[in-house]
Amino acid sequence: MVSRVIPVNAFDLVLFGATGDLARRKIWPGLFHRFVAGQFDENSRILGVSRSDHETEKFRDIVRKAIKDPEIDDAQLDAFLTRVEYISLDAKGERGWQVLADVVRSDTVRAFYLSVAPSFFGAIARRLEQFGIATPDSRIVVEKPFGHDLDSAKALNAELRECFQEHQIYRIDHYLGKETVQNLMALRFANSLFEPLWNSSQIDHVQITVAESLSVEGPGEYYDQSGAMRDMVQNHLMQLLCLTAMEPPSKFTPNAVRNEKLKIIEALEPVPVENIARGQYRAAGEQGSYKEHAGDPNSTTESFIAMKVEVANWRWAGTPFYLRTGKCLRERVSEIAVFFRNPPHMIFPGTETPQGNVLVIRLQPDEGMTLHTTIKDPGPGGMRLTEASLDMTFADSLKDSAKPQDAYERLIMDVIRGDQTLFMRGDEVESAWAWADPIIASWTDRNMKPQQYDVGSAGPEDALLLMHKDGRRWRSIGA
Ligand code: BG6
Repeated sequence: MVSRVIPVNAFDLVLFGATGDLARRKIWPGLFHRFVAGQFDENSRILGVSRSDHETEKFRDIVRKAIKDPEIDDAQLDAFLTRVEYISLDAKGERGWQVLADVVRSDTVRAFYLSVAPSFFGAIARRLEQFGIATPDSRIVVEKPFGHDLDSAKALNAELRECFQEHQIYRIDHYLGKETVQNLMALRFANSLFEPLWNSSQIDHVQITVAESLSVEGPGEYYDQSGAMRDMVQNHLMQLLCLTAMEPPSKFTPNAVRNEKLKIIEALEPVPVENIARGQYRAAGEQGSYKEHAGDPNSTTESFIAMKVEVANWRWAGTPFYLRTGKCLRERVSEIAVFFRNPPHMIFPGTETPQGNVLVIRLQPDEGMTLHTTIKDPGPGGMRLTEASLDMTFADSLKDSAKPQDAYERLIMDVIRGDQTLFMRGDEVESAWAWADPIIASWTDRNMKPQQYDVGSAGPEDALLLMHKDGRRWRSIGA
């Protein structure tokens, strides 16, 4: 069998914010897994960078703790750690930069991963240039939030572009690294079955749900400044919408794919306030309320949002996309549900179609696909109809395949390969903010408050009404 692991060229990956939360949870474990999979060239190194003073050995202990899990082979972890070095550096000052300049090699891929707050992006980019560390081939990786509105996103783009060209900038949206999100493209563009049906004559509407069961409790004020619209809709749900709605790109290259996504964002209609439901979870038993978690009794930030979105183009006119995301909901479920139109004429007298065909693409958990169909209710009693599902859980159907990688593993290796397909281009991010800004402004201008909802529910009443007034229903979140 052909190996599924395609080794990447030798690299120096410089990780800024190397002791931060994201680095510990995702980046270090992700790198270790790719090392174990044999994807690293033997000359590859990871240079952890942060402000604190650590000896390399002490720093390796921090990385060891971040990666450690009971299934890990200590010898492999030790081998991985020999690739890890540490440099203490002042991102906005002068300290440490010359050391970094002396350490990075000129004959390997250079990638700078900025796992730091966006307020550091410009300063770090400038220092990388000033000290001759950035070369025309090196790559810079940045995390969300990429701005909090159009102006700030433009400012970040401008700062990065002072020192790097667009083909060097990798803006991460980790949803694009998820296996099933990529599978959405395979499903649409590697099968001939779906594409002829993928339009408003055949599809009644689409529901995109990213429901989380966890609260926002934890350190940091980030969430209260963002809310579900900025935290999830402008980026993750937008990407899911784009991949579902975009035209087939002529080829699978970064710009061909991103051009098609951009066209969808540009085709989005403004969303009036009556097509939006915002919610905030209230306290329940031991579980504190959103306001308590945010540390602000007057917070009007939404922890839930549902909205009806129209894509004004030839393919989708008349087929709304309903987006929904929130915290503290009944279950953690992410899915795209495509509702096909009912047959134009029912030939079976006295029967009703229980439900039209629905194609559900489950992103997490239990990645897979279900096609809801209508069949004859088996047995005697005449021609009665019932629903049956063609269900495919990828883990069952693809038993022999490699375990799916975490999104970060895939994305970091793409950076080293120099493949930007699964990263957001600057104009894409700006367009998404240009669409989101007036929506956010419309409720701040009107001083609108989110509706309270129960922890463990499917969100506020308004979300149900949003569907109800269109004669439709949300799919249930969990059982
Ligand atoms: C992050 C958001 O980008 O995505 C979080 O900031 C959210 O609020 C997270 O919880 C969800 O990611 P995943 O991969 O767990 O679905």
